[in-house]
Amino acid sequence: MNFKHEINPEKLPQHVAIIMDGNGRWAKQKGKLRIFGHQNGVTAVRDTAEAAAEIGVKYLTLYAFSTENWNRPKIEVEALMTLLVATINKETTTLLKNDIKLETIGDTESLPEKCRKELAEAIEKTKHCKRMTLVLALSYSSKWEIINGFKNIAEKVKTGKINVDDIDENLIDEYLCTKNYPDPELMIRTSGEHRISNFLLWQLAYAEFYFTEKLWPDFSKDDFYQAILDYQKRERRFGKTSEQISNQ
Ligand code: FPP
Repeated sequence: MNFKHEINPEKLPQHVAIIMDGNGRWAKQKGKLRIFGHQNGVTAVRDTAEAAAEIGVKYLTLYAFSTENWNRPKIEVEALMTLLVATINKETTTLLKNDIKLETIGDTESLPEKCRKELAEAIEKTKHCKRMTLVLALSYSSKWEIINGFKNIAEKVKTGKINVDDIDENLIDEYLCTKNYPDPELMIRTSGEHRISNFLLWQLAYAEFYFTEKLWPDFSKDDFYQAILDYQKRERRFGKTSEQISNQ
């Protein structure tokens, strides 16, 4: 089935966020080690980024490594970091060819030196790209981000640079890692899990959620387009009534 041609370009989400889940189970089903699942997950990352750019999505945020993922066995964490370095190194040309800018959110200071260096190079090389921004959430958790934001705001209140009465939604947005991006309108999670797992808690306040049973390495361009079509069929009410929305 080809869903791409059914998509209405007038009703595209600007920003799609994805929890890429199920790599471990995918590998287990094949009698392989978990890292085999992550390695195959890279193909789905490439396909999804291409699919998003092709239809005109402006921001794609992928949850690649959570703060909690540091608690996985050391061997898996090391393998994931090695995979990340190799992938960034290999895919920078593809990003440039597709005019895609790479950025990151999260506590990237905690990543190994080699990872930070590879990321910094790719970010620098692609900073002029305009078609889409690919945001990798790395060593990211929403509670970490919100705590950080609150600490920075509190510091400014203490030194008189911010008045308590000035604290509103816009100000809090400014203190989050995502300050340069619009909030995602659509969040996709693969592998049949129906959880948000500490991902963009503030930013997903009004997002539509799309869950699929597909395990991440099996997630294809067409699966992405199917999610976009599902999103386009929904009525986004933002707390208003259906009648108010249709009269707008
Ligand atoms: C979740 O599956 C996936 C991850 C924690 C890592 C995601 C990493 C990749 C897709 C590969 C590298 C990414 C980039 C951006 C280069 P899981 O391990 O939690 O699967 P399970 O729930 O079946 O155990």
